[in-house]
Amino acid sequence: MDKLIVQGRKRLVGEVSISGAKNAAVAVIPAAVMAEGVSTLENLPYIEDVRSLCHTIEKLGGTCEYIDRHTLRIDCDGGIDHRATFEEVQKIRASYYFLGALLARYKKAEVAMPGGCNFGTRPIDLHLKGFRALGATVEERDGMVHAYAERLIGTSIYMDQVSVGATINIMLAATMAEGTTTIENAAKEPHVVDTANYLNMMGANIKGAGTDVIRIKGVEKLHGAQYAIIPDQIEAGTYMIAAAITGGDVLVKNIIPKHMDSLTAKLDEMNVTIEEHDDSIRVTANRPLHCANVKTMSYPGFPTDLQPQIAALLSVCQGNSMITENVWDNRYQYMDELRKMGAKVTIEGRLARIEGVERLKAACVNATDLRAGAAMILAALAAEGESVIGGVKYIDRGYEDVEHKFNTLGAQITRIQE
Ligand code: UD1
Repeated sequence: MDKLIVQGRKRLVGEVSISGAKNAAVAVIPAAVMAEGVSTLENLPYIEDVRSLCHTIEKLGGTCEYIDRHTLRIDCDGGIDHRATFEEVQKIRASYYFLGALLARYKKAEVAMPGGCNFGTRPIDLHLKGFRALGATVEERDGMVHAYAERLIGTSIYMDQVSVGATINIMLAATMAEGTTTIENAAKEPHVVDTANYLNMMGANIKGAGTDVIRIKGVEKLHGAQYAIIPDQIEAGTYMIAAAITGGDVLVKNIIPKHMDSLTAKLDEMNVTIEEHDDSIRVTANRPLHCANVKTMSYPGFPTDLQPQIAALLSVCQGNSMITENVWDNRYQYMDELRKMGAKVTIEGRLARIEGVERLKAACVNATDLRAGAAMILAALAAEGESVIGGVKYIDRGYEDVEHKFNTLGAQITRIQE
């Protein structure tokens, strides 16, 4: 298991270029298996989750070839197996998108129950309810989801809860259903829009992605397409918060500033200077940071996937801050690790109260999940002394070249392999 050794008290200065969005990539890659034809996907992040999905496609009988580090050529033209039942599938949660994609193309799919980061119960009942509404029979047995249908028929689906995964998965399945499907109370995240845009390039007819009502007019088949994935909102946010926590001055490049609105507003409130350009944001922190209250919500609210990182920042801001986690039941496991570094935090259910301390101190900590791992790096960068971060495999799932990118900004992070 790799570890990161992080020297603290390093001010980050310079420019960092953001990779393609993990959460868009992990939806668009499974969507590519729906095409009779070849897709070329560009601006993909070079991360573990993408490589895992490629292995899955190859095991299903398709080809998935790297043209360069960020471009994949996916060919499932000749047909692939509808059963993704092997162990690898369980490693990443987004494997559930193979359900919607295979169901759309073959009207049958068998996919092992998804794994992924553990922050509370992560049911997929809304996905399955949506498939059933489209006419599929869905059974869960032996750790597997089996879905099949004679015909998929468009219908109106109201989501009981806003769910990114269920919105995308139902959209995938409905793309080749007969007639029109309407998804109400749909998730509005940028990666929902990105997946819809890619499907439309493949010949789908999807309107309204990015609003809470998505209309999908079923088409008979899809063809391959060339498509570039959007920049990663969460990676961008992580580097913006890194600039703030180290009192730095960083230009975060190759992003869509609009996607960062909830974070830029919060950082501004905290006395961080934000300068927005067309496709970059400069973050400068040279004044005392104020405490703030943060409530996570679905897009365009403050993303839960930046909650651990902002908690690290709030732990060194003057005054008392409060976080309300509204999306996941159990996303504060990492707080024990932050406490090891001197953070003063108390948790009551969904609330975290953070009393700002002047300085964090280095410690040996663990990444308990992907974004928690990012928060550990940020806390370690700000802390006094040398920290050791374990569980780096989680960080590698979603951050490309993590130590290299930070080191280019003046951090001193080394990876050791054990
Ligand atoms: C996606 C992101 C994840 C992020 C989350 C919320 C990907 C690959 N992952 O996860 O990083 O933290 O959105 O922004 O895009 N729920 C149900 N039943 C379901 C599905 C969800 O009750 O069938 C609940 C969940 O328990 C959770 C909430 O809905 O409380 C939101 O989950 P959802 O938006 O589905 O998250 P994911 O798509 O899994």
